[in-house]
Amino acid sequence: MRSVRSRLGVLCLVALFMSLAGLLPVRSATPATLSQMTEDGRQLYLRGCSSCHGLDGTGTPSGPSLERSGAASAYYYLSTGRMPLADEAQPRRKPPAYSRAQIDLLVDYVASLGSGPAIPEVHLETGDLAEGGVLYRSNCGPCHTAAGIGGALSYGRAAPSVTPADPVEAAAAIRTGPGQMPVFGPEALSDHEVASIVRYIRFLESPPTPGGAALGGAGPIPEGFVAWIFGVGTLVLAVLWIGKLEGGHGRH
Ligand code: HEC
Ligand code: HEC
Repeated sequence: MRSVRSRLGVLCLVALFMSLAGLLPVRSATPATLSQMTEDGRQLYLRGCSSCHGLDGTGTPSGPSLERSGAASAYYYLSTGRMPLADEAQPRRKPPAYSRAQIDLLVDYVASLGSGPAIPEVHLETGDLAEGGVLYRSNCGPCHTAAGIGGALSYGRAAPSVTPADPVEAAAAIRTGPGQMPVFGPEALSDHEVASIVRYIRFLESPPTPGGAALGGAGPIPEGFVAWIFGVGTLVLAVLWIGKLEGGHGRH
């Protein structure tokens, strides 16, 4: 009897040991769950971004936390070349510092730092150009001008031209509100409305010029100015010509 019991005891011990041994490798493997892609992105991040945004993305005095930026914001800043920030007061559009593949890795890594919006999907063909024009003029025109060329804002900052943005960059800007731009979430603009606005932005890039010479689409103020100089100039010439005629008659 005793030997059976002790054998059972040994078996139990062996079973316990084996289950523990089975658990242990799982524990030690957890750090490796960081995928290779995220790890490659982390290496790029550590070299190019951590000096300002912190080793863990929580920010430093030189750059904000990226924990709530998400893939959409990272895509906007990297694809438009605004990040890494150069020696500039406001991030400017520049040729991207990274290749498309590297941007994908960095976007993935920034997204893994916390919660934030995904890169928006834009179905341009579903957008309605006329609706886009109405929405653009009321929501975006006040900062970016009716022609989309951008303009000055307070604090010495400026709203850039919207026309260089490709559809995904434009939709990412709308959904994330970079810098002083407001965030337009799904409750403010539906995906369909975003597609309409982006379609209108593409249209602004090369608007047809209905009659007359194209003045570079510089907007109502410069175009009005050209009309003014031209109109007043013609008027002055006419006055001089009439005066000369009258003067000629007076001499006789
Ligand atoms: C020299 C410092 C500096 C470096 C380097 C830098 N950033 Fe930035 N970053 C900033 C500052 C400052 C801002 C805030 C910009 C503003 O004022 O609009 C910012 C903003 C951002 C934002 C938007 C944050 C938000 O949600 O509002 C993202 C995303 C970002 N950076 C990503 C990156 C990535 C990725 C890199 C590396 C490729 C990088 N940055 C390198 C300084 C830096
Ligand atoms: C309060 C002013 C303001 C309003 C309103 C505004 N924006 Fe912006 N927008 C900005 C500023 C400022 C930036 C530059 C942010 C940065 O990157 O530092 C910007 C950036 C952009 C860009 C990026 C341009 C590039 O270089 O690729 C696009 C596109 C854009 N806005 C589109 C829109 C659209 C569409 C709307 C309306 C739905 C809108 N904006 C409303 C101020 C504004």
